[in-house]
Amino acid sequence: MKILVTGGAGYIGSHTCVELLNAGYEVVVVDNLMNSKQEALDRVKQITGKDLLFYNVDLLDKKALSKVFLEHDISAVIHFAGLKAVGESVSLPLKYYHNNITGTLNLCEVMEEFGVDRMVFSSSATVYGHQDCVPFHEELSLQATNPYGRTKLMIEEILQDVYVSNNNWSIALLRYFNPVGAHLSGLIGEDPNGIPNNLFPYITQVAVGKLEKLSVFGGDYSTHDGTGVRDYIHVVDLANGHLKALEHVLNKTGVNAYNLGTGKGYSVLDMINSFEKTTGKTIPYQITERRPGDIAISYADPSKAKKELGWEALKGIDEICRDSWRWQSQNPNGYDTKLERQVTK
Ligand code: NAD
Ligand code: UFG
Repeated sequence: MKILVTGGAGYIGSHTCVELLNAGYEVVVVDNLMNSKQEALDRVKQITGKDLLFYNVDLLDKKALSKVFLEHDISAVIHFAGLKAVGESVSLPLKYYHNNITGTLNLCEVMEEFGVDRMVFSSSATVYGHQDCVPFHEELSLQATNPYGRTKLMIEEILQDVYVSNNNWSIALLRYFNPVGAHLSGLIGEDPNGIPNNLFPYITQVAVGKLEKLSVFGGDYSTHDGTGVRDYIHVVDLANGHLKALEHVLNKTGVNAYNLGTGKGYSVLDMINSFEKTTGKTIPYQITERRPGDIAISYADPSKAKKELGWEALKGIDEICRDSWRWQSQNPNGYDTKLERQVTK
């Protein structure tokens, strides 16, 4: 069975391609490489010993996208492609709306044209916005606090409307909490451009000596140690959640949102401590001002995914730290192996 993976060269997409290939699916990747490298897909092939097809296609190019559907009998789409940096979305909102929303509209139109009506979509816990109580469950009212979040919320609504217009569609809206970690092989992982915005790549880049010290954004939240609490989910657990959601959309119709999180919250200091304990590396840090827009606590109620998809996260924070470090230490410059050769010369 052939699965189209948009954004398959990216961080979560590449890990999902590994699990899809291992499960026996045929994989066709569409990615314009605007935030990824083709090398990631070569490594997916190396890990699995299996082949996949790659098209360097932008979802904004509807004609090129149609050609992929013309050439392949696609059974379902896993739709990762999108821009994801919260801060950048505030300064470049039109770029975010155009890329994420128009890209998704093009994809849905082409899917309709070719009679493909099964989709797993990458949403985000960001659609919960600022809530008064944790854990976050799927029935909470939704709100977005920045343009990136609004693209996710709008796409969720667009996909709901698509289903209402045609009940043959089957769509899973997967609301990820904080994806971190890397494949056990150390061959694929997160490879952010420039200085990382997110906690985990920042920690691993401090550990490898690329960055001097971590700024902990805020030490005065109402949490057990004053630092922000999040639900860190191992990317391989997350990838497996996509396989469960895929089975679900292949077998049933409807549109459903699912939290993909562990149900446990850890603070920034908990994560630093776990990283230091499991890797033996010291992470110098200083507590600074809160980052504007951050919330104190976010973690999932993952019971709906367990009940309806038969999925739950299995990996804990020590495994997350160990696997992130393996990836970072084996690939200090991510997929940029040319840079590595220069550095080691
Ligand atoms: P990523 O940037 O590594 O992967 C996204 C991929 O999509 C990249 O390879 C990029 O080149 C591609 N892409 C973007 N726009 C495209 C377009 N118009 N046409 C073709 N390809 C395009 O990001 P990721 O961390 O793997 O995230 C995947 C999805 O999950 C995104 O939609 C993101 O918003 C969502 N998500 C991520 C997180 C997270 O913390 N990583 C959290 C919640 C949701
Ligand atoms: N943090 C630091 N220092 C840093 C980076 C982060 O202290 O250098 C803290 C943050 O303040 C927060 C925690 O670490 O308390 C996690 O921050 P991240 O930036 O790693 O993740 P966020 O929870 O802010 O955001 C992530 C994704 C968003 C997504 C959101 C909800 O980056 O795309 O989860 O799913 F919308």
